[in-house]
Amino acid sequence: MTETPKVLFVCLGNICRSPMAEGAFLEEARREAVAVVADSAGLHGWHVGRPPDRRAQAVALKNGVDIGDQRARTLTAEDFREFTHVVAMDHDILKGVKKMAPKDGTAQISLFLDHAHGRAGQAVPDPYYGEDAAFEETWADVVEGSQGLIRAFKPD
Ligand code: 4NP
Repeated sequence: MTETPKVLFVCLGNICRSPMAEGAFLEEARREAVAVVADSAGLHGWHVGRPPDRRAQAVALKNGVDIGDQRARTLTAEDFREFTHVVAMDHDILKGVKKMAPKDGTAQISLFLDHAHGRAGQAVPDPYYGEDAAFEETWADVVEGSQGLIRAFKPD
């Protein structure tokens, strides 16, 4: 049997994009009956220990996904050995993630929307300073990327 995918989603503050990605990904895995492990982390520690932004929680809940139990944490060197995939939500995050990767890290590092059909090279924009509509767009993005990831993890 192949190893269960363990996916870590990474954004800046770990209160908007990556918690939403974690929630959407786990929901997609549940629907498709694919066994996975997921978590999320931020490059920065401003919001450590806090639940996701209330706007992120609201959009997720509206789509049937409760992300209220998540708590923000920062990315660690250990994450690169613990997870099979470390997925960055935008290009700056990808750079930061690569900088933090230890020499003995085993995780595959990628840009989140590279997994979404027809969206390679695109970023998930930071919704934090946006309006509520920005969070709706983030949700649509994280669903697309999650669907692509789960499709790739699904046994034939
Ligand atoms: P995230 O969004 O990286 O998607 O969680 C942000 C959250 C907080 C801040 C910036 C982006 N901040 O500046 O506090």
